[in-house]
Amino acid sequence: MTTPSRSGVFEQGTDPRVEQFTESISFDKRLYAHDIEQNIAHARMLARIGILDAIECEQVEQTLRKVQTRIEQGRFEYSTADEDIHMHIERALIGRLEDTGRKLHTARSRNDQVATVFRLWVRDAIDRIDGKCRELQRAFLARCERDAGVVLPGYTHLQRAQPVLAAHYWLAYIEKLERDRQRLRDCRARVNVMPLGSAAIAGTSLPIDRADVASRLGFDTIAANSIDATSDRDFVLETAFCLVMIAEHLSTWAEEWILWSTVEFDFLRLPQPYCTGSSIMPQKINPDVLELTRGKTARVIGSLQTLLVLVKGLPLAYNRDLQEDKPPLFDAVDTVEACLEMATAVVDGAELNRESIAARLDEGFLDATSLMEYLILRGTPQRTAHHLVGTLVRRAIERRCRLCDLPLSEFQQLQSDLDASVYHVLGVQNALQAFVSYGSTAPQEVARQIERWKQQIGPLPIDDAATSRATIS
Ligand code: ARG
Repeated sequence: MTTPSRSGVFEQGTDPRVEQFTESISFDKRLYAHDIEQNIAHARMLARIGILDAIECEQVEQTLRKVQTRIEQGRFEYSTADEDIHMHIERALIGRLEDTGRKLHTARSRNDQVATVFRLWVRDAIDRIDGKCRELQRAFLARCERDAGVVLPGYTHLQRAQPVLAAHYWLAYIEKLERDRQRLRDCRARVNVMPLGSAAIAGTSLPIDRADVASRLGFDTIAANSIDATSDRDFVLETAFCLVMIAEHLSTWAEEWILWSTVEFDFLRLPQPYCTGSSIMPQKINPDVLELTRGKTARVIGSLQTLLVLVKGLPLAYNRDLQEDKPPLFDAVDTVEACLEMATAVVDGAELNRESIAARLDEGFLDATSLMEYLILRGTPQRTAHHLVGTLVRRAIERRCRLCDLPLSEFQQLQSDLDASVYHVLGVQNALQAFVSYGSTAPQEVARQIERWKQQIGPLPIDDAATSRATIS
């Protein structure tokens, strides 16, 4: 049988190499469930407008469900003689129902079909990834409680800057993930627009009911321009960008925890089930999962790049180039889903080396800025206070001591009215307690933010997490 799209106009068959070259079944087979949903909704609409009768519609639906079962049981045969999943499913339908099956492609082209089916698939992918981002947020939130009271050195330029609560760090990632989720939500609204009914480019002269199909498929709106709807792939690019941002955030986190788990930092013990060994150095416990999270970000960026180049300069409307939109997005979705799953497990299973962190908190003058702000509160202009504290830090370096070990006379030499209350802002704990601003690492602020997130992302799976950690070790 010739392919259904190869009509009577052809006098010659296809070169077999062309089949291989142009097929997309090898990758778009994963759209099967969404294609079948779309076929059923379309069939019901065709029945409403009298193209299929009620019995035919029922037969189409039942047959499509059987095809779906065959596919899911791995008993469906694929062949590059049929270019894509849409042709495969249609051929299976025609094979079983003959003329009734031949009616299904009424008022439809693969151009609007593929755009519709891919949007349905992307919509589901967005929802899954949103759920996984939320799981990771919850893992960080659970850590906020477990690591309550732990103070870390905060870094800028990877140099010690100011003390921060570990929970404040985790909240930073929760915020980033929340923006990732907002981006996905915004993007979803533009994904959830139905092209079906645009046909090849210009619409159809048949009396279709697009609103009926849209509501069956859960689309929010119907595409208003058939040329745009069949040619447009910005929903794919936008989704890919959302995925890139998630991967970038995970990459930052991975890099940070790789550093923190080194002997040099010694802040963190990574969970052993998520580490790997070395074939030559027996002592090694390597953070490969984190390294690959960082590394796979390159792939996701590559996918976006591929898509950007793919659509550049394409004339309206559908062009076959667009078939190449699927592999990069599939890969980006798979990669980001896997990274999110791994990240959730690692965040849940890691342990802070509290003693090692605490033992070295006095290094690096984390309280210098608090001292400066103390002077500002007593009326010293900021630039002057900045200079004074810099001088005190230099003295402390010379004496090989902390700021709080300097005698009061050193402070008074620089500013004669200073008294012993200066020591109340020195030392990491005092410096931490001095914070007051909204969004800062002030303990009461952090506690408030934790409460807010608990309300927002739900109860924590703390007990489950503790149980699974116990089982692994
Ligand atoms: N396999 C094609 C794709 O994924 C389906 C659309 C083909 N349309 C066409 N006019 N040849 O884009």
